Amino acid sequence: MLWLKAFHIVFVVSWFAGLFYLPRLFVYHCSTTDAPGLERFALMERRLFVLMSLAAVLAVAFGLAMIAAAPVYLEFTWLRIKLVLVAALIGYHLWCYALMRAFVEGRNRHSHRWFRVFNEAPTLLLIAIVVLAVVKP
Ligand code: HEM
Repeated sequence: MLWLKAFHIVFVVSWFAGLFYLPRLFVYHCSTTDAPGLERFALMERRLFVLMSLAAVLAVAFGLAMIAAAPVYLEFTWLRIKLVLVAALIGYHLWCYALMRAFVEGRNRHSHRWFRVFNEAPTLLLIAIVVLAVVKP
């Protein structure tokens, strides 16, 4: 169980590195106008998205493995609320994908200010999920 938890945390940290950095790339991407700059951002975003998606799948897989090893977890309210917030986090991850596609297809209409606000959402989810997982209120 401790091994599963250790790798769960490793992949959660890797996933969040991407969830913090990708929207930050969007902030700079939307202020870029030259073709080589646009191409470079699109490439960086695509590569980062692949890596953070892999981390997300592994973080969720190790979390589910802990539940499979001890199904009693599902009876705890803190875990159920945590799973709802994780669903929101996965929604945010998919929203990032949609925004990335919009950039590639020249459809982005959001300002850098909008992306700065968008960039704060994973911080709030991180605080809430870690408090639920550690304090178990
Ligand atoms: C479907 C996704 C997830 C599942 C099924 C899941 C499940 C679990 C389970 C069963 C534990 C063990 C709790 C314990 O024994 O104390 C755990 C620990 C933990 N999880 Fe998750 N988790 C998921 C996603 C996340 C995410 C996205 C984060 C961070 C934002 C996160 C952060 C943590 C932390 C920090 C711990 C360690 C808690 C401690 O040892 O006190 N988990 N998770």
